[in-house]
Amino acid sequence: MAWAPSVAGWLGGFLLVPVLGMIPPPKNVRMNSVNFKNILQWEVPAFPQKNLTFTAQYESYRYFQDRCKNTASTQCDFSLLSKYGDHTVRVRAEFADEYSEWVNITFCPVDDTIIGPPEMQIESLADSLHMRFSAPQIENEPETWTMKNIFNSWAYKIQYWKNGTNEKLQVTSQYDSEVLRDLEPWTTYCIQVQGFLLHQNRAGEWSEPVCERTTSDAETTPSWIVAVILIVSVLVVFLFLLGCFAMLWFIYKKTKYTFCSGTSLPQHLKEFLGHPHHSTFLLFSFPLPEETEVFDKLSIITEESKGSKQSPGDSCASEPPPEPGPQELESKDETPSLPDDEPVLLTPTSEA
Ligand SMILES: *[C@@H]1O[C@H](CO)[C@@H](O)[C@H](O)[C@H]1NC(C)=O
Ligand SMILES: *[C@@H]1O[C@H](CO)[C@@H](O)[C@H](O)[C@H]1NC(C)=O
Repeated sequence: MAWAPSVAGWLGGFLLVPVLGMIPPPKNVRMNSVNFKNILQWEVPAFPQKNLTFTAQYESYRYFQDRCKNTASTQCDFSLLSKYGDHTVRVRAEFADEYSEWVNITFCPVDDTIIGPPEMQIESLADSLHMRFSAPQIENEPETWTMKNIFNSWAYKIQYWKNGTNEKLQVTSQYDSEVLRDLEPWTTYCIQVQGFLLHQNRAGEWSEPVCERTTSDAETTPSWIVAVILIVSVLVVFLFLLGCFAMLWFIYKKTKYTFCSGTSLPQHLKEFLGHPHHSTFLLFSFPLPEETEVFDKLSIITEESKGSKQSPGDSCASEPPPEPGPQELESKDETPSLPDDEPVLLTPTSEA
């Protein structure tokens, strides 16, 4: 029925306009609502006079209240409307004492508002991209209130692709962060995110694509730090062991010097020490380090020194000969009487 609009226009032109006055209503009236920022917008109708004004109202408790009165603007902010329930808003054109008919709009903010794009930060770590999202803030609410607080099935839908290709992959996350792993190294990926309501299968607007380049595993800072820590640890342990070794060596040298004063043992003492049984005995009769300063004076009677009774200045320990015989010990009083085959060597006593 192609003639219907023109008939309506003809009727409007000749019948309705004289009744309501000559003012045509605003054109293309619509509610532009993003994140509950509700802006009623319209266009100026064709009219000979340029200075038309407009009045916009909303219905509250069955009465219409002015929101923008006699404004020359072509939009009016209705963000004060409750987020829930249907609201009727209307606008008309005015000139002098005349006005157009109302143009009515029914609007439910929570259902009709557009979910704006979330904000996103991307960090490239090796072959993965780490993303952090923040849901859009709500108009006319404290800063901490976001769209996520209004919709309980809020999620982020992420779309990513290799720059220069058209194959797009999607991931949905209910958390404020997400990681894309195992991406190709040294490749630029572009990412977009939108708010998405899982229960209603309702999608928000996509954010602008953000492109980020992956690197490779070998170049990452964490691995580098791990390597340095490892090397430093090994070095510290090595130095510690070196210190221990040096200390032991020092103690060993000092002890050896104290016991022997640098003189070499007589041949038959060496033979005695070479005997495993005697060596064990010697080991067990070793004195404590604090008591090593004082020794009983022992005489070593060898074939060469049989004539003399003692070897003066010999501070080293010696053994009595295997068989008791002509040999004798000078400090007999302090030396315990020895069993036949177990002579005690190096039996120092502390000077009380
Ligand atoms: C708008 O609504 C009012 C009542 O609220 C009604 O009188 C009027 O005809 C409506 N206008 C249009 C264009 O529907
Ligand atoms: C993406 O690729 C195009 C060519 O395909 C290039 O011009 C553009 O600079 C690239 N963008 C980024 C962020 O690397």
